[in-house]
Amino acid sequence: MNEAKLSLSGVVKRFGENIVLDGVSMDVSAGEMVCLIGPSGSGKSTLLRCMNGLEPVNDGAILLDGFDIAEPGIDLAPVRRRIGIVFQSFNLFPHMNAMDNVLLAPRRVLGKTGGEGLAAAEALFERFGLRDHMMKFPDQLSGGQQQRVAVIRALAMKPEIMLFDEITSALDPELVGEVLDALRALRDEGMTMVLATHEMGFARELADRVCFLDGGRIVEAASPDVLFSEPKEDRTRAFLRSVLERRL
Ligand SMILES: Nc1ncnc2c1ncn2[C@@H]1O[C@H](COP(=O)(O)OP(=O)(O)OP(=O)(O)O)[C@@H](O)[C@H]1O
Ligand SMILES: [Mg+2]
Repeated sequence: MNEAKLSLSGVVKRFGENIVLDGVSMDVSAGEMVCLIGPSGSGKSTLLRCMNGLEPVNDGAILLDGFDIAEPGIDLAPVRRRIGIVFQSFNLFPHMNAMDNVLLAPRRVLGKTGGEGLAAAEALFERFGLRDHMMKFPDQLSGGQQQRVAVIRALAMKPEIMLFDEITSALDPELVGEVLDALRALRDEGMTMVLATHEMGFARELADRVCFLDGGRIVEAASPDVLFSEPKEDRTRAFLRSVLERRL
C-alpha cells in the first residue's frame, strides 16, 4: 500500500527530441515540504507542471492518493483544483482588484457566490497580512504583495497540495522575506508543498526533503542537513559550490 499523497514513478517528458524529464520517481507525503533545486534547464518547472497536469507526460505514473493522474484522457479539472500552482510571474488580472482576482476561480469553478467565498477570501487576506489591500489593483501593490495575492488566489480553491515555481525570484530582495514568511506559515499549518527554489537558505531551514535535479533526473534526494552538508554526488557538490560562489 502506497501511503504517499503524491507519488511519481518513471516520469518521462520530452519536448520533440529533447528529453526534459528522464525517469523521475519521487514521493511526497501529506504535510511534507519538498524543495527542488538544480541548475537552469534541469527540469524543475517542467516537473511541477507535470505534477498537476499542465504538461502531459510521455511515460510513467503520477499517483494522487493512489489514482493515476498521468493517464491520458482523464478529467484534469478536479486534479487542478486539488493541486494548486503559483508561478514566478504572478499573473494577476490587471483590471481586477485583489479580491476579485482571488474570487474569480472559486466563483466560476466552485460556484461560490456572495458571502461564503467572500468570508473565506477575507480570512486568507487577513492571514497573509493583506487585509488593507484587498480592494487595490495589482499596479497599486508591491511585487511581494502581488505574489501573496497570487498565493491567496491559489489557496482560495482549497487545494490539498501546493506547487510553487520560483515564486520569489522576480522580487526585489527586500520583498522576498514576506513571501517566504507566507510559505513558512503554510508549512506550519501542514500544507503539502513542492517548491522549485533558488533560496538555498530557505530550503535548508524548512524543507523536509531536498531533491537535486540535473539533466532531467533526480541526482540526489535527502534531508536538507545531509544534502547541504554532506552531498554524496559530485554533481550536487559542484552545483552547491557554484551557488555559493555566486553569492560571494
Ligand atoms: N514548452 C516547452 N517546449 C520546449 N522545450 C521546453 C518547454 N518548456 C521547457 N522546455 C525545455 O525543457 C528543459 C527544462 O526546462 P525547465 O523550465 O523545466 O527547467 P528549470 O529547471 O525550471 O530551469 P530554471 O531554473 O531556468 O527555471 C529546458 O531545456 C527547456 O528549454
Ligand atoms: Mg524553472
